[in-house]
Amino acid sequence: MIRKRGSLIFCGAFLFVTWNAILALLLWSRPQTNQPGREQGEGAEGPTDDVVGDVLRMADAFEVELERQKEILLQIQSHKSLWEPLLRGGRKVVVTPPPQPVIPILVIACNRVTVRRCVDKLLQHRPSAELYPIIVSQDCGHADTAEVIRSYGDKVTHLKQPDLSDVSVRPEHKKFQGYYKISRHYRWALNQVFKTLSHSSVVIVEDDLEVAPDFFEYFRASLPLLKSDRSLWCVSAWNDNGRDGYVDPGQANLLYRTDFFPGLGWMLLREAWEELEPKWPAAFWDDWMRQPEQRRDRACIRPEISRTLTFGRQGVSLGQFYDKYLRYIKLNAEFVPFTKLDLSYLKEETYRDKFEKEVYSAPVATYEDVKQGQLKGPGPFRLQYSSKDSFKMMAKNLGIMDDLKSGVPRTGYRGVVSFMSRGRRIYLAPPPGWTQYDPTWS
Ligand code: UD1
Ligand code: MN
Repeated sequence: MIRKRGSLIFCGAFLFVTWNAILALLLWSRPQTNQPGREQGEGAEGPTDDVVGDVLRMADAFEVELERQKEILLQIQSHKSLWEPLLRGGRKVVVTPPPQPVIPILVIACNRVTVRRCVDKLLQHRPSAELYPIIVSQDCGHADTAEVIRSYGDKVTHLKQPDLSDVSVRPEHKKFQGYYKISRHYRWALNQVFKTLSHSSVVIVEDDLEVAPDFFEYFRASLPLLKSDRSLWCVSAWNDNGRDGYVDPGQANLLYRTDFFPGLGWMLLREAWEELEPKWPAAFWDDWMRQPEQRRDRACIRPEISRTLTFGRQGVSLGQFYDKYLRYIKLNAEFVPFTKLDLSYLKEETYRDKFEKEVYSAPVATYEDVKQGQLKGPGPFRLQYSSKDSFKMMAKNLGIMDDLKSGVPRTGYRGVVSFMSRGRRIYLAPPPGWTQYDPTWS
């Protein structure tokens, strides 16, 4: 019904253009009187004895006129939002909701056929093919993996990173060849998304990640935050300390700001890519992102409970880390309607004030009390660290990630790491009055 009316309008517009073109032709082919001030010569004006020349010039004029009419039509089309509601609601003016932004999902693949698990889950939970086009970018030229990706037909776009040569590296970095290739692939794939395909945002997923039911909902809801708050530079689906027992299952809707770049299912805007691309590193791109020169005091949003799970034991970094930590990170199961929730608490000033009050008004607990489960009361509790060594000792013994990158602990916000211990919220925190990270803590 709406379509019919729409096409009626376009028929009208087409007739209008044709009519104008004919008119232009008629006017043009009338013998012209010399106009003062117009240049003469070169035989450019009016019909002459040269019939072929005349026809050619007529055709040119026709083309120019058509071009002009096309412009007018495009302008009409660009104001569609003004006239379309009129069509829909008859004479009533109906306000149409603004168009939903498209958020492409970029899957980074190489030589693992298990990319199927990743893509299957994406397709299973994806609420709309139009709003979330899936782009699988494949490095490594692995035929079986290519075949798996191809088998999805037009459900996914299959890109292939063209440069399969070894990256030349200094001898002592030979063993890191994989990290060089990953970095090269990222740069190429992100350029495809932002430059070739002209998207304005992207969610990057590696081929060994499985997504949660509300993965898409989470990124759609946080996109406006990312766009409007310049102190943010990413949204991540990952909680580095998100093991069972370390997160609150009753707070699946809880989100945080973190100064640590988590990666592992994360959203990036075109502006940030334009800033990073010219200096993109040859290797170890994720740790490079964590350096102060790149991060520039910006934070990421991350969830209490991860919206991605990693199943990639066999990978470039060879699995020790996987067996110790990654495999235990819990995937959120319950769908949280993030787009219907108020996320304004995540805005910088609001968040910082509230978070600091919450942390520094919490009673101080001793490490022994936490470790032995002797806390009295419901919590939250604050556990204070004052040096790199005390942070590492407590983190390790309490089962929290103890590594720091450029001085920032995993999941940390202003030095504070939030986690659950025997059902109570603990904030592992520096002394009050924290001002900055010490990049020598590593
Ligand atoms: C780790 C990180 C990963 C990061 C990488 C680079 C975790 C759990 N993983 O990789 O997020 O991107 O370091 O610093 O922290 N790949 C290629 N080309 C290759 C080899 C791999 O494109 O030649 C792709 C894989 O398909 C995958 C990604 O790179 O999507 C990471 O490779 P993987 O083997 O999973 O390495 P990790 O050790 O997990
Ligand atoms: Mn991996």
